[in-house]
Amino acid sequence: MSGEWFVRCAHCGLPHVVSEQICPITGKPVEMRRRKKTSDPRPEAGFPQANEAQVPPPQIPHQVKAESLQTASSLIGQVIEGKYLVRELVGRGGMGAIYRAENLRLAKPVAIKTLPNVPLLSEQHFARMMREARITGSLNHPNIVEIYDCGVLHGQIPFVVFELLEGQTLSSRIELDGPLPLNESLDIVEGVLSGLAAAHLRGIVHRDLKPDNIFLDQRGKKITPKILDFGIAHSPIEETLSTSTGMIWGTPFYLAPEQIRGRACDHRVDLWAMGVIFYEMVTGLRPFNGQGIDEICRHILNEPPPPLWVHCPNLPREVEAVISKALERDPSSRYASVQEMLAAVRKLRTEVEQPTQNFISQKKTQEPQSDESTLRFRR
Ligand SMILES: Nc1ncnc2c1ncn2[C@@H]1O[C@H](COP(=O)(O)OP(=O)(O)O)[C@@H](O)[C@H]1O
Ligand SMILES: [Mg+2]
Repeated sequence: MSGEWFVRCAHCGLPHVVSEQICPITGKPVEMRRRKKTSDPRPEAGFPQANEAQVPPPQIPHQVKAESLQTASSLIGQVIEGKYLVRELVGRGGMGAIYRAENLRLAKPVAIKTLPNVPLLSEQHFARMMREARITGSLNHPNIVEIYDCGVLHGQIPFVVFELLEGQTLSSRIELDGPLPLNESLDIVEGVLSGLAAAHLRGIVHRDLKPDNIFLDQRGKKITPKILDFGIAHSPIEETLSTSTGMIWGTPFYLAPEQIRGRACDHRVDLWAMGVIFYEMVTGLRPFNGQGIDEICRHILNEPPPPLWVHCPNLPREVEAVISKALERDPSSRYASVQEMLAAVRKLRTEVEQPTQNFISQKKTQEPQSDESTLRFRR
């Protein structure tokens, strides 16, 4: 270990290099009180191992003038680059704020993502937004959000213009309705895997798949799942952010074991995340839980998820087989490719759609059976 300074984030518990101002997991300011040297013993045993060694400290943060931030935080009503009229805030993630806007020249609704309230924009924030724009722009698939434009606001704050999606994220849907009916879960898994297949074909691994980053777009009657947020994706056309900053990126609940261990990761981390998401859709519960990041990571590394039948006794066994294969701890035991998982999901659909199907749809009113080894997820 290089003896480089890091700060253990009070929000997510992970170590961030000292010049990181914003926790990439929670989006909250990293508190600087609890500095330690990385050469010190780890604060807690079993702590996730990021690629921390041999990492040069990031560049000096790119300071943004206070007046620019002030202007950005009151974006509503402003016209950006003479053509985008910002109307209202429609979403927030770990990094960005998403606004409904209108392209005045085309009279077309759009979504604008920017970083209006990040107190100190670093080169990393800037780079993340720009790489998200480039990676998303290189993909063209109905299950991946479409990008229209990108630019820099007031010469300082990056912004990206996307197609405006209508509906809700998968996380909101699960939060509101609880477990989803199996046929709907299969539609969503199939759509997301199709989009993912297009990304993987180009060597792009998302690495941060989670229900917050899947949007159920409902324009008209049809619901189309759309993958969002390629901000921390790995792409052959871009430098990876994680190896240049020595941090674990991603949300702990959906991290694959090899991501937690800081081992080499490939496209199979996305298949793991899809297993977690599929499980969560059909049960309304996350398969790996815990009181804090260490407990969640220990659960992922050491314990199998509670079997599906504990929560959904009537779900066909074939569903469990698909999810279990995606959730193999050893990546070489998982599906070898997204196409393979997609084929398994399609086969599953034909099996469960047989007239003799023995599953029941999971409705909001159906509380999962309690299981001591699973905590009801908290958001
Ligand atoms: N194109 C869009 N149209 C409508 N809402 C969106 C769009 N993109 C993102 N959102 C909303 O904003 C939230 C955060 O977007 P995301 O791109 O994931 O940002 P972050 O990188 O900060 O996590 C999403 O969960 C969703 O609710
Ligand atoms: Mg996001």
